[in-house]
Amino acid sequence: MGGFTNIAWNKGVLRLLDQRVLPQETRYLDFTDYHEVAQAIREMVTRGAPAIGATAAYGMALAALCTQATDPTTLRIELNQAAEVLRQSRPTAVNLFWAIERVLRRAANPALATVSAICEAVIAEANAIYEEDIKANKAMGFHALALVPDQAKILHHCNTGGLATVDYGTALGVIRTAHEAGKQVHAYLDETRPRLQGARLSAWELKRLNIPHTVIVDGASGHLMRTVGIDLCVVGCDRVAANGDTANKIGTYNLALAAHAHGVPFYVAAPTSTIDMSLPSGDAIPIEVRDPREVTHLGNFQITPDDTPVANFAFDVTPAKYITAIITEVGIAYPPFSDSLAELMARVQPPR
Ligand code: MRU
Repeated sequence: MGGFTNIAWNKGVLRLLDQRVLPQETRYLDFTDYHEVAQAIREMVTRGAPAIGATAAYGMALAALCTQATDPTTLRIELNQAAEVLRQSRPTAVNLFWAIERVLRRAANPALATVSAICEAVIAEANAIYEEDIKANKAMGFHALALVPDQAKILHHCNTGGLATVDYGTALGVIRTAHEAGKQVHAYLDETRPRLQGARLSAWELKRLNIPHTVIVDGASGHLMRTVGIDLCVVGCDRVAANGDTANKIGTYNLALAAHAHGVPFYVAAPTSTIDMSLPSGDAIPIEVRDPREVTHLGNFQITPDDTPVANFAFDVTPAKYITAIITEVGIAYPPFSDSLAELMARVQPPR
């Protein structure tokens, strides 16, 4: 739909668009081994919470297909081992754990009495996660239409488009839906240090979609709100706690604070697969800390003195009090989020 395929499953081969080399190169990598899929998630060949979830589900499908097991019990033990390997790939995006649990639950159905029946069920569950994600993204865009005024100047962080999902996108999907509905919108894209998902990936996507956009450095958002005037911020997220606290790419919290100071609405777009009702607040969300080299180097070029101490937090938590609304595929949650998220989650079919 955005003119590229981010994730594809074809006859037992998982194909991923290698996001590490965009926008210079459009390269696809093929996977038949779930260990390599876990490695690809860790190294951010693919990234973005919903994309990570769908990829992990197909990692489970590869584990099922590669089995030497001759009985269901052995296969189920192997699937649990594969699940553990895939769970270790990245800690923050709950979609990873959610997708793996969904596949395991399906495989555990006692009605599946043969190895091939379990394999088919695992693949079917991965395909269902894939299809549902596209539908969820389009539904979020639809629900959010009323929140996006014509002529809106919209600030966005990281990459949340077709590259971060199976297709279409969450927060970028909101911008895209408004654009496709005929609204004249302009997206300001935080470059998103250190891996530059905004400058490299969001700009690549919006250019292909002919959506007007401008890349800004991460520190420019307050200046833009004060001078150009921003009508709303919309971001994606990796995990929402039951009270509405939201983990997203590092820098999101700063953006939310700037938006709060300027009275700019701050929206989070998240499929319900990103909502983790088991965590009471954002304090319990695990925050990934990545390799210091992502900060000390630009490509192969070192920008800090030798041995500079670095803390490379990949995510931060935005407290619920700075969030205007959370846009999901089943509706929009407003504060108090403890009530509204519980009410929305009760609408999810099948119930979770
Ligand atoms: O480290 P990344 O690139 O996987 O982080 C991605 C983000 O923070 C996105 O905003 C989030 O996953 C939502 S994607 C629809």
